[in-house]
Amino acid sequence: MKIVVFNGSPRMEKGNTHVMVEAFLEGAASAGAEVENVFLFRKKIRPCLGCFDCWLKTPGKCMQKDDMEGLLSLFRDADLIVFATPLYVDNVTGIMKTFMDRIIPLIEPYFEKDPQGEYRHRKRYQKIPKIAVISNCGFAEQSHFQVLNLLFKRVARNMQSELVAEIYRGAGELLKLDMPMLKPLIDAYRDVLKKAGREVAADGKLSDDTKAELDKPIVPHDMYMDGANKYWDKLLSAV
Ligand SMILES: Cc1cc2nc3c(=O)[nH]c(=O)nc-3n(C[C@H](O)[C@H](O)[C@H](O)COP(=O)(O)O)c2cc1C
Repeated sequence: MKIVVFNGSPRMEKGNTHVMVEAFLEGAASAGAEVENVFLFRKKIRPCLGCFDCWLKTPGKCMQKDDMEGLLSLFRDADLIVFATPLYVDNVTGIMKTFMDRIIPLIEPYFEKDPQGEYRHRKRYQKIPKIAVISNCGFAEQSHFQVLNLLFKRVARNMQSELVAEIYRGAGELLKLDMPMLKPLIDAYRDVLKKAGREVAADGKLSDDTKAELDKPIVPHDMYMDGANKYWDKLLSAV
C-alpha cells in the first residue's frame, strides 16, 4: 500500500500537524506501507483559474505549468492519500484549499447519480485513492472539527472515494510543548497515532478502540485553556 500525505501547514516540519503525521507514518511503515510526505508550502501551486481547460482542451491536465502536475501523479499513484492540515478559521488552510481546487482534472465534467440519487461528476480514472484526514487545532474540544468532518465526507463522495480515517486533535498546541510534565502524555498520544497508522496500513481502517483513544483529551480542557491564556499573557507582556 502506498500512502501519500499532503501537509498544508505553513509551519511544515515545525508544525503540530507534522508531529501527528510523523507518528502516523511511522506506524503505517511498520505495517509494510510505502509512505511519502509532501509539504505543500514548499511547492508552487497557483490557484485554479476556473477555465475548465482540464475538462475540455487538455482533458485530465491543467494548463498551468507549476508543481501540481507532479503532485497529481503522486495523488493518482497512491492507494491512500492523507489531507493533513491545521484548522484555520474552522477550515483547511488556504494552501490546502488551493491544492484541493487543483485536483479537479481527476474528474470528468459529466454528471451522474450516486447510489443515493444525488448527482456528482463522473470519475476520469478507475483507480481513485482512499482518503484520510489528519488535523489539529488551537482550541481544546474535538467539536471544532465539525466542518472538516463534513467537508471531507463530501469530498470523498464527490470523488467516488472513501473516507477511511479522520484523526483530529484539539489542543494541538500541546504537541510541541517542551514540558517534562507533558512528555509522557504526548508520548502516549504518539503511540496511539502509530497504532492508527498500523491499522490503516494493515486493515484499511481504524478500530473503534483506536478512534476512541484518538479523541480522548490529552489534558483536561479547562487546564489547557487556562494555560493558553497565561501563555498569551506572557507573550503579550514581552512585546
Ligand atoms: C490564521 C489562523 C487561523 C486559525 N484558526 C483556528 C480555528 O478556527 N480554530 C482553532 O481551534 N484553531 C485555529 N488556529 C490555530 C491552529 O489550528 C493551531 O495553531 C495549530 O496547532 C497549527 O498547526 P501547525 O503547527 O501544524 O501549523 C488558527 C491559526 C491561524 C494561524
